[in-house]
Amino acid sequence: MLSRLAPRRALASPGGAVKAVYPRVMLTAWSIPHRAYSSSFPLNDKERQEQAKLAKMTRLQRWGAYLDSDKFKKSMTKYYIGGFLALCVAWYYYMRDRYYEDKQIKHVKEKYQADPASLSEYEYLMLKTLSQETLRPKEAKKYKIYQLMRKEFRRKHLFDGEKFFNPSPEDLEAWYQKQPRISRKKAPVLDEPDTEEEASAELKNAPLRNADNPNIMPAEDTTEFYDEMAEKYDDEIKWEERGVMMGQRRRWLMRQVKGDVLEVACGTGRNIPYFYPDLVKSITFVDSSRNMVNVAQKKFRKAYPDFEKAHFAVGKAEDLVRLAGEGNGPRYDTIIEAFGLCAHEDPVAALRNMAKLLKPNGRIVLLEHGRSTWNFVNNHLDFRSEKRMKTWACRWNLDINELVDEAGLDITYEKRVHLGTTYMLVCKRPEDPINSDEKSFINKLLGRNPEPIKPITRE
Ligand SMILES: C[S@@+](CC[C@H](N)C(=O)[O-])C[C@H]1O[C@@H](n2cnc3c(N)ncnc32)[C@H](O)[C@@H]1O
Repeated sequence: MLSRLAPRRALASPGGAVKAVYPRVMLTAWSIPHRAYSSSFPLNDKERQEQAKLAKMTRLQRWGAYLDSDKFKKSMTKYYIGGFLALCVAWYYYMRDRYYEDKQIKHVKEKYQADPASLSEYEYLMLKTLSQETLRPKEAKKYKIYQLMRKEFRRKHLFDGEKFFNPSPEDLEAWYQKQPRISRKKAPVLDEPDTEEEASAELKNAPLRNADNPNIMPAEDTTEFYDEMAEKYDDEIKWEERGVMMGQRRRWLMRQVKGDVLEVACGTGRNIPYFYPDLVKSITFVDSSRNMVNVAQKKFRKAYPDFEKAHFAVGKAEDLVRLAGEGNGPRYDTIIEAFGLCAHEDPVAALRNMAKLLKPNGRIVLLEHGRSTWNFVNNHLDFRSEKRMKTWACRWNLDINELVDEAGLDITYEKRVHLGTTYMLVCKRPEDPINSDEKSFINKLLGRNPEPIKPITRE
């Protein structure tokens, strides 16, 4: 009985648990299911010699001998064939899905040729993506949700490839509201799934919109906070900034400025050390906190005593147009802002005001922090959002791209650093053309100037 069972157990765990029970020489033989050792009792000298050889081997060498054995190879052949067949089936369904997607793309292109307004929102986003056009942040979020929904649709209609996926925005909204979102609870861990469907990892990745995130603190007027903070602000923030080499990012920001420049929410002037006066005609610093502006003013005068066209003003970004004198006031070639949107009462209104103060073909350059591209980071931001608001009067879990989109601006350059929490953005008004260096790589390479896909308009 023992001699029949032991080699089989040893097959499952070579050199493993059986060892504790049986004598060493026998066990070594059982534990390595080589063809020559399929019996526990050696039959001839050759087998005896090989068994002795095995007994001298280390555990690692015995594993090597096991992997080299005929028995192992024979059993693996079955798995190889099984795995290959499974791959073939998956490949077939994948290719079939691509085929139907291709059919839908042709159909969408024909529809667009006939009447652009006949496209559904999903079809419009699909076409825009295919045409290498950058989706606006809110569109990109929506398209990602559509794609997650499409995966579920495909799984449900595995045997019905002919069916086109073309949900209405209302279907999408209803589907989206059903999905679990990672940041519903204030905890640094993932939500416990409530149902089997909710356990699916990809559904957990459904993007979260600012409006749906209960962990974003209500906006506040932070003027008083920063008035009190002004004198100690630089000392308190400098270690956090040095730790992530923020100086490099500030240098990038100041390299973008030219002509008449406006810095909104200038704070204590932490960008001043990176200021290049050569390309700048004038610079105006604005902040809602008088004390912060005073610190910035002293810093600037000390660093650039001869630069005359520098102005300092106290006021809110939400009042910017009025402050600048409505229609008759100055206009700017570059408007910059660093880490200000998180502290504004109404960041979207602030961005809209900046857009109104731009000269034709001017640019808004933002260095901001907010929601990450990683869910585990967002969990942390959400979990600590209240504390952050108390210590820095800062809403650090806002999706900045979404704010820019809501303000109706186009993003012509985007780079995300520090695990996606630091946003480096160049924005323009939709009516301004893009510069040649802002074209996509492929269009630059092919020297193309493609017609943008017309937005869908409904009565
Ligand atoms: C986190 S600090 C950033 C300061 C500076 N830009 C920097 O990079 O260090 C936020 C600044 O935004 C200013 N601020 C907050 N709300 C504002 C508003 N509505 N309009 C203008 N400035 C505002 C604060 O006074 C503060 O100086």
